[in-house]
Amino acid sequence: MRYLILSDMHGNWEALAAVLRHVQHERFDVTLVLGDLVGYGAGPNQVVEAIKNDLHGEVHVIRGNHDKVVAELEDGANFNQPALAAARWTTARLMPANLRYVRELPEGPQQVADDVFICHGSPLDEDAYVFSIYDAYEIFTQFDAPVVFFGHTHIPSLFVRHDEGIEVGVVQGESFQLELDPERRYLLNPGSIGQPRDRDPRAAYLTFDSETRVVSWHRIDYAIDKAQERIVRSGLPKVLADRLALGV
Ligand SMILES: [Fe+2]
Repeated sequence: MRYLILSDMHGNWEALAAVLRHVQHERFDVTLVLGDLVGYGAGPNQVVEAIKNDLHGEVHVIRGNHDKVVAELEDGANFNQPALAAARWTTARLMPANLRYVRELPEGPQQVADDVFICHGSPLDEDAYVFSIYDAYEIFTQFDAPVVFFGHTHIPSLFVRHDEGIEVGVVQGESFQLELDPERRYLLNPGSIGQPRDRDPRAAYLTFDSETRVVSWHRIDYAIDKAQERIVRSGLPKVLADRLALGV
């Protein structure tokens, strides 16, 4: 089975459209979406509609923390000012059917194959950030899964559990491949499509071939200036436009 794995679109339609265009001639049996469809960007309706209607094969989508605040399932008390302003802006502009879709997104973790799980933050807590080896250690000891795809940090990264301990890696560059060892366990993060934070402003996504066991990280260029222009024109906080060009 060929998997396409997308995370943290954050209402950035220009970035998601570029990724979907880039993969349009590839065949995927399963598409996994790891949450944060909306919040920050100026194209939330286009992003939600593409996730609802344009993905191929079996599709699994879970919610992120921004989706919950936009859907008013949570109040966003822990959000910074631009994030909260963007969530409120998004709630007001989502079409009713799209807002309902976001509100009804399931919570992670979800099992999507015998050996594959997805979550937004951590499989132990959908809102938790997995940055450190200790974060990964807690998951590997409390959640028994061979492969977990997660998002939320916006950093393309991997944690590997093997006999000698845990290895961590930050994935940089245009593409990187890893062949999964059946004797090891993995936490794998594609990075963010709509708001990368690893100082590489290109949209990030993953593909996975469950036959060859190869996971591939990808980065692609998109029209950042258009996404920025829309944010500014929409009256969203300007800092949300500025950070896109820096990848922070
Ligand atoms: Fe996010």
